[in-house]
Amino acid sequence: MGGLPKKAQQLETVRGKKSAVLALDSGALLFKDEKLPPDQREQLTATAEGIVAAYNKMSFTAVGVARQDLAAGLPFLLAVQKNSSFPWLSANLLSRTARKPWFKPHTLITAGGMRIAIIGLTDQGSDSLFTEKDNAIIAPWEEILPKEIAQLRDRAEMVILLSSFPAAINRKIAEAHPEIHLILQGGNTPGNIPPERINNTLITQVEAQGKSVGILEVHWNAQSKRWEEPGSENLLEDKKNAMDRLGWQINRYRRQGDPEQTFKDQPEVLEAYNDLLARQKLLEEEIVRLTAEQKARDASHQRLSSYSSHFEPMRKELPDNPAVRAIVDATTSEVNRIGKAAVKARISETTVQQQKGPLGNYVGSTACTNCHAPQFAKWRGTQHATAYDTLEAKGQQFNVQCLPCHITGPAAQTGQEMLALAHDLRQVGCESCHGPARAHTIQPTGAKAGQPTMDTCLRCHTGEHDDRFNFAEALSRLRCGSD
Ligand code: HEC
Ligand code: HEC
Ligand code: HEC
Ligand code: HEC
Repeated sequence: MGGLPKKAQQLETVRGKKSAVLALDSGALLFKDEKLPPDQREQLTATAEGIVAAYNKMSFTAVGVARQDLAAGLPFLLAVQKNSSFPWLSANLLSRTARKPWFKPHTLITAGGMRIAIIGLTDQGSDSLFTEKDNAIIAPWEEILPKEIAQLRDRAEMVILLSSFPAAINRKIAEAHPEIHLILQGGNTPGNIPPERINNTLITQVEAQGKSVGILEVHWNAQSKRWEEPGSENLLEDKKNAMDRLGWQINRYRRQGDPEQTFKDQPEVLEAYNDLLARQKLLEEEIVRLTAEQKARDASHQRLSSYSSHFEPMRKELPDNPAVRAIVDATTSEVNRIGKAAVKARISETTVQQQKGPLGNYVGSTACTNCHAPQFAKWRGTQHATAYDTLEAKGQQFNVQCLPCHITGPAAQTGQEMLALAHDLRQVGCESCHGPARAHTIQPTGAKAGQPTMDTCLRCHTGEHDDRFNFAEALSRLRCGSD
């Protein structure tokens, strides 16, 4: 949720500049995965509630229900819905018995003087997310969409679909339903995808977890309800430019007098000149034709709809929205409080169990000092050696969503292990990069420590947390191996 204050500020800026702005999200908003580790549930659901509060503050128009949003169970999302000032949309998440939608299937809004219908669809996935008690199924889109569209067709000038189905299925939906003008897909395919047009449907996607904001600017013609041919508005412009170039070339021949006279003894030159004249004539005719076509379209209100899009990465330097910043800060400190309480509860429960732990193959960085003093000294000087302290300074050292990258990496897997980690395994220690090395400390030559590759670093230096990571440059700053 770290990018939300920036996202909010971007949205506010766009709203300041444009008259009708819809803030839409196709889902996978609350959780990254379809299942929550039980020992992280409390922290992750507290974070999810903070995200909803932030979306309320941002006055979101609608959000689609994706499978990930159901990770804490259907009852959790139904409760979240009550606290959401925007509708959660899913036309195909139905009760098993009555086959009634659990969420709003669509919403109808007015923006820019137009009625716009927004429909939600939840990815069916390969297995059921629900328990018997949930009384829920996800129905196929083929069964749901025709009815939805029939119902909305005459009530809306534009139809938008928020879909968490995978890209291939969204293409099929577009082929089957040209009445849907825009599909915003999410939750399944990674990365930003610029608009692609299938018949009369645009499909686009913004990368997951708020790493970017996608801004799609649409000039919609409610009469034609059709997107322009890609580049059609440029065609006339291109022809006019070509005409200018030709005119310039022809003038070069004429500058020395009438070419028919000047080049009468150079038939190839004369031929090239006449060729240019012929092309000029053809181009002239084409420009007349295109201009007439455009005039006719304008006159009959058959103007097509156009769009342009760009993606705005949520870079660190972008300004925060203060109100959403406050929500995020309150949420993260609550999440940290939950983690701290869990640690306290466990310490009073089991003081005996502490030393054993499941971290058997990891020894911690201090164990390396004796034999690798230069590397140890160098490591102490890097930010890796204080990565856990950084969380402490932010009051986030009990947040299981932060810990994986600010401790000795994979030593701890579960939330409980992370929170109860031995002191010497906090910080990004030697074994984050060289792997578990207990055996190596006992038998240095027999059991070798591992050598990190770029993938080792990318586990933590992800695009979301370090969008400028450059392996070669980063290695040269660490200089762990060299003296
Ligand atoms: C377990 C997670 C993790 C792994 C693995 C990891 N890093 Fe880092 N790295 C971090 C964190 C967290 C910080 C920032 C720490 C802070 O500021 O508190 C960081 C900071 C850095 C810095 C800035 C350090 C400085 O002192 O200027 C560099 C350079 C860097 N990492 C390079 C690498 C390289 C190269 C690799 C792989 C060989 C790597 N890291 C592997 C988590 C990791
Ligand atoms: C996927 C790994 C990962 C996770 C999860 C993660 N961090 Fe980091 N963090 C990094 C890396 C890598 C850096 C170093 C980035 C750099 O050098 O620019 C870093 C740097 C930082 C820094 C210092 C630089 C800065 O941006 O101010 C802070 C503070 C920080 N992280 C806090 C957090 C908090 C709080 C959380 C949980 C909400 C968190 N991190 C979760 C990988 C992670
Ligand atoms: C962020 C990742 C990272 C951390 C943390 C790290 N190292 Fe390294 N280490 C490397 C890399 C990468 C190399 C390969 C040499 C190079 O290009 O710097 C290396 C090389 C070494 C070498 C020399 C291997 C050789 O082939 O010469 C030793 C020994 C070593 N590290 C020990 C340690 C010890 C001890 C610690 C902790 C005090 C530590 N490293 C922490 C990344 C790391
Ligand atoms: C008892 C001494 C000793 C301790 C303790 C020790 N090492 Fe080593 N380490 C060595 C020796 C000796 C070598 C050279 C082995 C060789 O060349 O075969 C070595 C080599 C390495 C290398 C280079 C790759 C390899 O295995 O040849 C890395 C990386 C490394 N150690 C990391 C660590 C880390 C991380 C720790 C702490 C967890 C650690 N070492 C603890 C003695 C030690």
